[in-house]
Amino acid sequence: MGRHVHDPPETGDGSPLLVAVGLALAHRRGGPPVHALRGVDAVFPRGGFTAVTGPSGSGKSTLLHCLAGLERPDAGTVLLRGREITGSAEPGLTRLRAREFGFVFQTANLLPSLTVAENITLGQRLSGLPADRAWREELVDALGLGPRLRHRPFELSGGQRQRAAVARALVHRPSVLFADEPTGQLDSRSGARVLDALRAAASVYGQTVVMVTHDPAAAARADRVLHLRDGRIAAEAAGPAASVRALPGAGGPGWPDPGGGTGAPEGGAG
Ligand SMILES: Nc1ncnc2c1ncn2[C@@H]1O[C@H](COP(=O)(O)OP(=O)(O)O)[C@@H](O)[C@H]1O
Ligand SMILES: [Mg+2]
Repeated sequence: MGRHVHDPPETGDGSPLLVAVGLALAHRRGGPPVHALRGVDAVFPRGGFTAVTGPSGSGKSTLLHCLAGLERPDAGTVLLRGREITGSAEPGLTRLRAREFGFVFQTANLLPSLTVAENITLGQRLSGLPADRAWREELVDALGLGPRLRHRPFELSGGQRQRAAVARALVHRPSVLFADEPTGQLDSRSGARVLDALRAAASVYGQTVVMVTHDPAAAARADRVLHLRDGRIAAEAAGPAASVRALPGAGGPGWPDPGGGTGAPEGGAG
């Protein structure tokens, strides 16, 4: 197990890792302000898998961007391990993001001229973050990407590309993995494998996962669901995965069996 180098492992002990207090943000581009967030308070426990759901336009992506320091809220604060990041200035914030956060979006956005292996490690190398080879190999293995490492993205299925994006997001052992509609472009089978990986990141590796989705099946894999409506949290519920996770001696879920990713055809996504 290669968890050493730069960071103590996130232990998944459920203590507050990321906290949002009173987040408000209005988008002002041209016309009248669009109030995307109207006062959001939320605590993301270490090792927890939180799904953020809600109708289109309810502020899900804006919330994720504010939590990750990609957008600056008009009001409110975001604290990472008790330290406020909301007021941080570039380039400190850029460095913090690179070190502490991993991102998965709806499309994998792999660089077409690089191999899968190069894509996975590019950000880490550009940010000068230390490489942890054993961890990278474990990740690649668990995601079923081993046989694809020397391939270019166009030779992969949509599901494989998105799993490469998950590997890229986790390779530097971030504190928080943010995902915005990570299964939005996938058929249900390859989507399920990506969700397996996110689930395992939280359950097995104690990673804190925040996933925006409008897909109820995806949200069902989380420990809890925050439901946004009109820029506010309208409801919060424990996800089905929470009870699974809490069962004593249930032998928590492991990494997904990489079986299907080793060359077997995979649904026609992407
Ligand atoms: N860059 C932007 N400029 C102007 N309005 C925006 C921008 N981004 C989002 N919005 C608006 O803010 C609201 C919330 O958007 P968003 O956070 O993307 O919602 P969701 O992810 O839930 O669909 C929507 O009304 C959207 O149109
Ligand atoms: Mg969105």
